[in-house]
Amino acid sequence: MNAVEHYLKQRQSSDPVCAYVYDLPALKGHAENLKSTLPEGSRFYYAVKANSDQPILETLEPIVDGFEVASAGEMKKVENVSEKPMIFGGPSKKDYEIEAALEADVEYLNVESFHELRRLNWVAERKGVTVPILVRVNLSENVSESHLRMAGVPSQFGIDERDIPPFLEEATGYENIQIAGFHFHAMSNNLDAEAHVDFAKLSVEKSTAWRERFALEAPIVDIGGGIGINYWNPEEPFDWETLAQGLAELQSDDVQLIIEIGRFMTAACGSYVTEVVDVKRNHGHNFAVIRGGTHHLRLPAAWKMSHPFRVISTDEWTYPFLRPGVTRDEVTIAGELCTPNDVLVREEYVEELRAGDLVVFEYAGAYAWTISHHEFLSHPQPEIVYIR
Ligand SMILES: Cc1ncc(COP(=O)(O)O)c(C=O)c1O
Repeated sequence: MNAVEHYLKQRQSSDPVCAYVYDLPALKGHAENLKSTLPEGSRFYYAVKANSDQPILETLEPIVDGFEVASAGEMKKVENVSEKPMIFGGPSKKDYEIEAALEADVEYLNVESFHELRRLNWVAERKGVTVPILVRVNLSENVSESHLRMAGVPSQFGIDERDIPPFLEEATGYENIQIAGFHFHAMSNNLDAEAHVDFAKLSVEKSTAWRERFALEAPIVDIGGGIGINYWNPEEPFDWETLAQGLAELQSDDVQLIIEIGRFMTAACGSYVTEVVDVKRNHGHNFAVIRGGTHHLRLPAAWKMSHPFRVISTDEWTYPFLRPGVTRDEVTIAGELCTPNDVLVREEYVEELRAGDLVVFEYAGAYAWTISHHEFLSHPQPEIVYIR
């Protein structure tokens, strides 16, 4: 029995189904498998922003080497479950967050600008501590065809590669700053494993050149995350083996690779299950309207894609009149919000979908509930269920 079936079997309520269901044993197995294939000496971190729920963090805690956090709030969540190292990144660090990071004794702070370097040094000086940093680089090259890019294009992230030499010159002059390495997180949802290896290779080459030029002992090369989920064709997933083998060739005594995975770690362990409330035809198109929507699962609206789904047919029909449905046709699956943008699936083929059937949106364990606008229209929130 899978996690969704497990949840449905024990469910008591007669209200329409609306729930996030997380399969924690599956998450554990997946994370262990990823870790076991990475080269010895490299480090495996979880990017908490993908899903910061406590049971998720607790499940990953014994497996990962550390956590990547992007706010004081995420730092606290990690501190509640783990004493493992944290890397603190993000382009808008407030002084109170820098202070919180120093108090939490984070392993490394990413530095994303000259002004941030100066502020960090200023705070560290006043506290009388030395802060190990990773220099977040926005590479000049365009590194992949991934969904979102934070390198090779203008962005608010990191320091333009062309400014790295003056940055290092300034940073090496500060007594309270210790440069531990470089951070290159550059893309989101990349599906091309070979391109990811090329990117990691480039990151190592750049780091080595700067280390030599500035006589730095800075072995860390953090390649961030960005490993993709193939939402469009889940049968053809990212080729993790190719990436792991490529990284094995880059790891050496002089280089300590860190990979910080968010989406690829938790996406598959989560499902969003909802019930179809109505089915109708409108201007020649079929619409199934569900209990739930993009206020719970914003990702397909944000990316203007159809989210992968499957239908669970239910036999129960209590009304004494016709059950509306669509058979062997395309349907758009829309939510309960008063906006035409509340669409999770656009014109996809179904064998059959009727009012009262369930739709399971898969790969909903990352950047799903956490990135959604829960309060819009004040509908009740979904159940959040962790199958252990
Ligand atoms: C610095 C950093 N590291 C890691 C990640 C995780 O990326 P992903 O979820 O694509 O693996 C992110 C995501 O935004 C990030 O900003």
